[in-house]
Amino acid sequence: MKQGIFITIEGGEGAGKSTLIERLSNMMLERGKSVLTTREPGGIPIAEQIRSVILDKAHVTMDARTEALLYAAARRQHLVEKVVPALQQGQFVICDRFVDSSLAYQGHARGLGMDAVWEINRFAIQELMPDLTIYMDVTPETGLSRISQAAEREVNRLDLEQMSFHEKVREGYHLLLEKFPERIVLINAELGPEQVYHDVLNVIEQRFAGFFATDVKL
Ligand code: TYD
Repeated sequence: MKQGIFITIEGGEGAGKSTLIERLSNMMLERGKSVLTTREPGGIPIAEQIRSVILDKAHVTMDARTEALLYAAARRQHLVEKVVPALQQGQFVICDRFVDSSLAYQGHARGLGMDAVWEINRFAIQELMPDLTIYMDVTPETGLSRISQAAEREVNRLDLEQMSFHEKVREGYHLLLEKFPERIVLINAELGPEQVYHDVLNVIEQRFAGFFATDVKL
């Protein structure tokens, strides 16, 4: 039975998810909360191996359905091996990407259809949806220019897609916002990291006031 809180962070390339996650994790630790940060695809050895198959720049012939199935397989293993045990221990789990990535990238941008991609993911996650999803909204122009300036980030197969693909990804996320207005919150990630962090913190504190209420106030 789930006792912790499950938050996912979503967005297109260069939205600033990693920076945000690091800051959120530090904030939780400072407040004495037990937090697990992780990412998809990957996060555990089996899923990291699937990740390297999916993102390998040499795999240009990968079929869109194969890609969707591999993401779902990596998701399943990561969920049962890492996320569920942490939630059962009452931890705050922050995951960089989850099922919405598959719906936006494979379902909408690749054109497989969100319903079809949802079906295989439903099988993979068995109803375990995030309590909150933060969607970091940036234009592909901003996102891709941030990536090209970040020397340490390795370019992967999906980064090599055309601009129109990244625009479709964003469109997909906007459709998801309409579909799940309770769960997904849009954050303007065109703003600087400081503003983004404060906006996200506000959302989290409002949603999970009870979680923070146990803080000892001196
Ligand atoms: P990554 O290097 O982690 O990129 P980012 O920092 O943008 O998260 O690569 C993950 C890539 O995989 C990214 O381009 C998004 C894509 N992806 C999907 O297409 N579907 C999915 O279900 C997931 C989890 C990721």
